[in-house]
Amino acid sequence: MSHAEDHEGTRRDFLYYATAGAGAVTAGAAVWPLVNQMNPSADVKALSSILVDISGVEVGTQISVMFLGKPVFIRRRAQAEIDEARAVELSGLIDNSSENPNKPGTDAADENRAMDENGEWLVMMGVCTHLGCVPLGDGAGDFNGWFCPCHGSHYDTAGRIRKGPAPENLHVPVAEFTDATTIKLG
Ligand code: FES
Repeated sequence: MSHAEDHEGTRRDFLYYATAGAGAVTAGAAVWPLVNQMNPSADVKALSSILVDISGVEVGTQISVMFLGKPVFIRRRAQAEIDEARAVELSGLIDNSSENPNKPGTDAADENRAMDENGEWLVMMGVCTHLGCVPLGDGAGDFNGWFCPCHGSHYDTAGRIRKGPAPENLHVPVAEFTDATTIKLG
């Protein structure tokens, strides 16, 4: 290949890329109205809620469901777990927020984290507030609640952080009962 041909090739490549670049800009401009049209309508929003049948959950056990790509723990607590959670002195907590969007601005009292007045149902994101591992449940850790083995965070029977590097209580998702045996997440 002569020097001239080589140079010609380089120029052609440049023209090709420049054209491709202009094409990309045009495509980008065309995408916006499409995305805008797709802003959440009622049916899209409906996808961000799920109904969970809790009729089969025994006292002292929990189920995990996936919601928006993350695990959610739904625990039906035994009376001993509820009593233990409610006996805790709030002033000693690492995070004294309920971390519950269903009761915004409330403290971390067990009553503000549980779904129902009796405290039988506890619903929480199964995501450690340190770096996002999934904690182990069923009475795990030094406080008989959940334990994150990644870096050693211990949560109590209300899902409140008690020891270890996690800075916040396990978060409660937006949730409500739609009837006695169904919880709606989102
Ligand atoms: S991610 Fe749970 S302790 Fe670090």
